Amino acid sequence: MALKRREFLKLAATSLCALPLGIQARLVYAGQKIELILQPEQRAWFGDSYQPTVLWGLDREVLRLKQNQPVEIVVKNQLPEATSLHWHGLRIDNAMDGVSGLTQQAIEPGEEFVYRFTPKDAGTYWVHAHHNTYQQLARGLYLPLIVEESTEYPVDQDHLLVLDDWRLNKDAQLDLKSLGNMHEWSHGGRMGNVLTVNRQVKPRLQVRAGSRNRLRVLNAANSRIMASSRIMASEFTGVNAWIVAKDGQPLAAPIRFEDPLILAPAERYDLIVDIPADWQGEQPIYEVSTQKRYAGAFWDVLLPSVAIHHDSPTALPANPLFSLSDRKADHHVQLMMEGGAMGGLRKAVYQNKSMGVRELIQHKQIWAFNGVANLPDEPLLTAKSGDVVEIVMDNNTRWPHGMHLHGHHFQTNSNRYQEGIWHDTLLMERGEKVVIRFQAGLPGKWLIHCHMIEHQAAGMVTWFEVTA
Ligand code: C2O
Ligand code: CU
Repeated sequence: MALKRREFLKLAATSLCALPLGIQARLVYAGQKIELILQPEQRAWFGDSYQPTVLWGLDREVLRLKQNQPVEIVVKNQLPEATSLHWHGLRIDNAMDGVSGLTQQAIEPGEEFVYRFTPKDAGTYWVHAHHNTYQQLARGLYLPLIVEESTEYPVDQDHLLVLDDWRLNKDAQLDLKSLGNMHEWSHGGRMGNVLTVNRQVKPRLQVRAGSRNRLRVLNAANSRIMASSRIMASEFTGVNAWIVAKDGQPLAAPIRFEDPLILAPAERYDLIVDIPADWQGEQPIYEVSTQKRYAGAFWDVLLPSVAIHHDSPTALPANPLFSLSDRKADHHVQLMMEGGAMGGLRKAVYQNKSMGVRELIQHKQIWAFNGVANLPDEPLLTAKSGDVVEIVMDNNTRWPHGMHLHGHHFQTNSNRYQEGIWHDTLLMERGEKVVIRFQAGLPGKWLIHCHMIEHQAAGMVTWFEVTA
């Protein structure tokens, strides 16, 4: 029955007044509205000699948000597969964390989902698919995410250096047949054969001679540990570089950077790089994780030079992180990491059933945390928001891993990093044992997993619960 216009207006007015307060508040939500479209994209990496490589991506090169400014991000899935988006490193509501099957339902093809949050930490982050992740990351479904400081940090220019390796076949298309290869899953994960920087082959980063640059480095590879070198070039005099942030979080004081910079998948560094006044032309930036160094990108140095910075950079403005200092831990748990090739794993529980290795492999599982392969029903621990948590992570495998905590930053006693640095992802060598410490943040279910994403798929994932 159609309502007359007058009656309709009356009805609408009444129902609005009758709304409970919470919903009214949401109606006036003042977030900046951003639309993100997930869609196939083409990259002509090899000129005219090949068809462009078809990837999956988001409809932009970078997402820039502002610290403390609410946003409303409408994600439209125009891909042929369901997905969800995880805001890696952001401390936001659990319902916005983007883990399909845990914090939300996957966004079906043709559907959309609205992520609403206010980034409280400035820094360098990324957003990436968290559904069928080993496939969707290999296809390129991610984007660097910059949260700008509310007070500007003085540099001449701000650059991204997003490293990724892609597995292409002889037609220069993604080698999709090799996805899910169990041999790779039980070893170091999927390695690509083409390196890109900022989704380009050998891009040129234009800089002025003598300029001070901020360089945001992110390893977006599925599994490759990247090592980039000659961000600082030792054979040239006067090149200075400092680390000012790790995984988005500013260091209390910048530290001089020693070549090369090593990054597990998902790790980020913010560097300050002073380009010498006497540089000109092209200067390579190498990736050196293999025997043969590879010039992945170039500084393209433009003259004339700008004013030279002689003073060391100052620290970035601090984010509102809680200081752990010497507070005693309220929780102390072990996380035994096991499995993989040559790891001697005999059995593990998978989906509540104890299995031998052959049966595990039939289920594509080969790694375990505390004897459980893949997500257990029970959390690793339950902490109250505000509690201090200590996890002893024991890498009892023959492989390095990049351990990531959702929604939290932590400190460690790892001697690979300077003390006091905050991380959301940590590179651990084989046999290494570290203690991580953090304060339980917002309530919800948060993942802990290896960010060598094949290892996660093959078992290296658990979760912890934070209660209000
Ligand atoms: Cu960037 Cu669960 O990951
Ligand atoms: Cu791993």
